Amino acid sequence: MRLGVNIDHIATVREARRTFEPDPVAGAVICQLAGADGIVVHLREDRRHIKDRDLKILRGVVKIKLNLEMAATAEIIKIAREVKPDQATIVPERREEITTEGGLDVVSGEEALKAATEELKESGIPVSLFINTNPRQIEAAARVGASAVELHTGEYAKHFNNVIQREKELEKLRKGVAVAKELGLDVYAGHGLTYYNVGQIASIPGLEELNIGHTIISRAVLVGLDRAVREMLDLINW
Ligand code: PXP
Repeated sequence: MRLGVNIDHIATVREARRTFEPDPVAGAVICQLAGADGIVVHLREDRRHIKDRDLKILRGVVKIKLNLEMAATAEIIKIAREVKPDQATIVPERREEITTEGGLDVVSGEEALKAATEELKESGIPVSLFINTNPRQIEAAARVGASAVELHTGEYAKHFNNVIQREKELEKLRKGVAVAKELGLDVYAGHGLTYYNVGQIASIPGLEELNIGHTIISRAVLVGLDRAVREMLDLINW
């Protein structure tokens, strides 16, 4: 199972003081050395954590997969086409949210998402869509021309302590992975995963990559980033 480490919250700590440290670029280098398979950053429209400068330097430094999470807006699409991350993950974005709250509604936004996906693909950037595990959304993602989907694990995480609900969410995810694979999509998952709940997600057949942020950066504050990344890698690849 591949691990993409979302380093947004290194920048969140920096922005708490609007200073130069900790530098997410240094964090990316440590994740890379610790064995992570990818670095994920979300360049939000309000630039609340990751800045344009971070993304540009990361493009030079990151030799593993650089995955840019982004809203499908003209401004960010233009930046993505210039920087050329190894993948763009289109996510819904609302200014007032604390973090990305739900998946994209690909069914109702099909035309606009198709146009955005085509623009990114023209620049050689493969596109993944962050969606809730709903077969209609997965089918729409395939129609839009995405090469992958990232399934939202937030509901699973939320219900982790309720065995019945958790099993329901796991079953939805297992079915979603199968539907996406059948359509020829690569399948990733993420959001709300922790060291405590990641095991069952990591064992879903067909799932190729997990994108994990908050829990790794939280642990890193206490035990160091190198150790936090290695412990997650051990958990998802046992
Ligand atoms: N995947 C996507 C698409 C996200 O938007 C986020 C949050 O930035 C994550 C994964 C990581 O979520 P978490 O920080 O809860 O691990």
